[in-house]
Amino acid sequence: MKEHIPGEIIRKQMAIVDEQTEERLDQLLQSFLKDFKERNLQENGWPKNLSAYTASKVAVSTYTRILAEKYPTSCINCVRPGFAKTDINFNTGIVSVEEGAKGPVMLALLPGGIPTGLFYEQTNPSTFE
Ligand SMILES: NC(=O)c1ccc[n+]([C@@H]2O[C@H](COP(=O)([O-])OP(=O)(O)OC[C@H]3O[C@@H](n4cnc5c(N)ncnc54)[C@H](OP(=O)(O)O)[C@@H]3O)[C@@H](O)[C@H]2O)c1
Repeated sequence: MKEHIPGEIIRKQMAIVDEQTEERLDQLLQSFLKDFKERNLQENGWPKNLSAYTASKVAVSTYTRILAEKYPTSCINCVRPGFAKTDINFNTGIVSVEEGAKGPVMLALLPGGIPTGLFYEQTNPSTFE
């Protein structure tokens, strides 16, 4: 997370997952919107480039962990598909759509009882660091 969110306070607040995290995450995203509108992103520790995209992805990772804690009998994970050739990058990705879909499809089809609250790099479990 350190390479994506420069602000230490924001990073720390997103890293702890407890019963207050959902509310704290919502407040953090509201503060992102405020800083975005007021053009204060960099001063307040948000990323300079692709700020909304990056903040949303870090939030999804945190939210994955919140949901996994909240619903321990479900399998709730998030996944990065790799740099896949799709509309989002004007087809400049380096892996095919089929390759990119492998991770999400694999996670969707795994049987119950698998690890939950994880971040996957394509088909491999990774860390939220
Ligand atoms: N491709 C990559 O290299 C890459 C890498 C890392 C992460 N990801 C993530 O993987 C996910 C899928 O990306 P992709 O590569 O498949 O991108 P994509 O081909 O551009 O597809 C994005 C999808 O999101 C839908 N969408 C966009 N804005 C929406 C909105 N406001 N409300 C509802 N649906 C909306 C689009 O619907 P329409 O087709 O109707 O517009 C489209 O189906 C994204 O979260 C992306 O950030 C992708």
